[in-house]
Amino acid sequence: MYKETHKKIQEWYHINGRHTLPWRNSSDSYKIYLSEIMLQQTQVKTVLERFYFPFLERFPTLNSLAQANEAEVLKMWQGLGYYQRARNLHKCAQLSAPTLPKTVQELQALPGIGKTTAHAIAAFAYHTKVPILDANVKRLLYRIFALVKRDEKVLWKKAEQLLDTNAPYIYNQALMDIGSSICKPKQTLCEECPFTTICLGKKNPQNYPDKKVSKKVPIKQLHYLISIDKHNKLITSKREQRLLEGLWSFPQSTQAFEKATEIGHIKHAYTHFKLEATIYLENVTTAHKKAETLTTLINLPHSKVEEKILILFKSQSDQFQSLMEHPQ
Ligand code: ADE
Repeated sequence: MYKETHKKIQEWYHINGRHTLPWRNSSDSYKIYLSEIMLQQTQVKTVLERFYFPFLERFPTLNSLAQANEAEVLKMWQGLGYYQRARNLHKCAQLSAPTLPKTVQELQALPGIGKTTAHAIAAFAYHTKVPILDANVKRLLYRIFALVKRDEKVLWKKAEQLLDTNAPYIYNQALMDIGSSICKPKQTLCEECPFTTICLGKKNPQNYPDKKVSKKVPIKQLHYLISIDKHNKLITSKREQRLLEGLWSFPQSTQAFEKATEIGHIKHAYTHFKLEATIYLENVTTAHKKAETLTTLINLPHSKVEEKILILFKSQSDQFQSLMEHPQ
């Protein structure tokens, strides 16, 4: 039905596709899986420049990842955010090493792998004839079929119909590239698009799909305490809450730490809320079980918030020498 369009897509990809992306030059399902998980919430550029290669260097195989401890995995993930991805990656490795399963159903049964990721792994690692739907591809399909209403069920159906079952690998990679370089949110290059003859939305692509109503994110105020113990170590706690679980953090409270000295403020934007935090410093005269030197803490996995607190602390520590009166 879409024979002509499929031919145009293959030709377009041959000339314009991002052929040098490392996960497109590998048939190792682990390397492809890793790329899909990193790319879920992070841009290609960031993944490529800072995270993909160091992670693979440290954990070159699914086996090596399975054998690592969680703190090491979180450390390699530090800065990427959405740490649940790293914890699930680790769990998946432990469940399926030495190799990932091959079917969409089995992949989807693993932690952190939903339909979209299962399809992407199957399509890219095993050349399975299944469509994929990342954010760019969704926008592209909404426009090709002139769909105003956001409805993933409908979109999966359309994606199945349009799939080139003779060349699913290139077709799917091409759709990602067309979505990110031609059918952009605000700008479209319809004359260059291989879908142009069948696209029903090309007259007014901005109308498809309808705009998301943007919700105002709430602001959360928190107070963080840097406590320096008798041995000049910083008192910490390992987070047990689901958000940022497994990372060390400074003690925090919704109330001010009245007896400590306020040393400044930091801000951090999460997806669902904005954090505004006040940071305090105090000295305690006792030794503490859960205390580490500054150097150790820097090397343990921690979130962006703790990173910002450490930077603030380091930038002001000269000023607070009097508080840090105990030699190490
Ligand atoms: N985002 C998710 N998967 C991708 C891929 N294979 N190539 C480029 N961007 C992607």
